[in-house]
Amino acid sequence: MGFFLYLCTQNRIYMILYFSATGNSLAVARQLAEQLNEQLMPLIEAVQQDLTNEKRIGLVLPTYDFNLPPAMPEMVSRLKISPQSYVFTVVTCGSAAGNCIWVLRRILREKGIKLAYSHKVSMPDNSALAFGRNPNKQLGKFERVPARMEQIIRELKDESHTLHYSWFGLLSWLLGRKAIERGMIHCLGPKVIADKCNGCGTCVRVCPMENIRLTDNKAITGDHCTVCLACVHACAQQAFRTNGQDVRKERQYRHPDIKLKDLLLRSTEDHSSR
Ligand SMILES: Cc1cc2nc3c(=O)[nH]c(=O)nc-3n(C[C@H](O)[C@H](O)[C@H](O)COP(=O)(O)O)c2cc1C
Repeated sequence: MGFFLYLCTQNRIYMILYFSATGNSLAVARQLAEQLNEQLMPLIEAVQQDLTNEKRIGLVLPTYDFNLPPAMPEMVSRLKISPQSYVFTVVTCGSAAGNCIWVLRRILREKGIKLAYSHKVSMPDNSALAFGRNPNKQLGKFERVPARMEQIIRELKDESHTLHYSWFGLLSWLLGRKAIERGMIHCLGPKVIADKCNGCGTCVRVCPMENIRLTDNKAITGDHCTVCLACVHACAQQAFRTNGQDVRKERQYRHPDIKLKDLLLRSTEDHSSR
């Protein structure tokens, strides 16, 4: 019997889909993939795949303004997932995941899919630099991560049906999603400082929205920025401004276990074609 169960487990195909600008969500997604024997895939790639054969799908996403990143609802609604799959989410945040879980649950429900499990992991807030603060001074938040991850992994191994959430989400619902979103994109949307840009193309490769291209060896941002700030944090020239502020090197953040190359989604040849 044990051997039969082992064989069944080996044949199951599991998938962890992630969106990550500075590595917090990628670090969580990686740990889940390792511990649960699942595969990892960036969300932008997953929207082009047929995932209907996957028995278990995990979504690991960051929180923006107490909600999902602006581009996520549309991306998640495009995913091809079977209603029979066990679908779970782990949301990363600076402290408050707000409405994320409810919004995700609603989007999935509209596709006939049940969100079976959710939890959040607090890590340094990568938007802090846009408000004159330093995310690297929040590394103390990592102290509580192992215990939370242990709980999540234990519950996911049991295929738990529990939504861990916070009533704080009500706040963002009351404030009005679109108004918050427009304001956030307007204020935080990265602007290129042309004089500082050396055309290295790192921002093109790190942008999880494929929203930056090089023209005349200068970075140009497109019109579907989801304000993840990946470009702002990754630029070695500090050639992006956010919230009207120049960015100081010491405030650029990346999860300590994640290397820049782990976040690059495209090869160097792709620079000018996107
Ligand atoms: C535009 C923006 C808005 C954010 N809003 C929130 C928020 O409302 N609550 C929160 O706890 N963290 C917030 N954060 C912090 C991120 O959710 C957090 O740092 C996350 O772990 C980043 O994940 P990543 O490194 O995978 O991109 C925000 C970050 C950005 C860029």
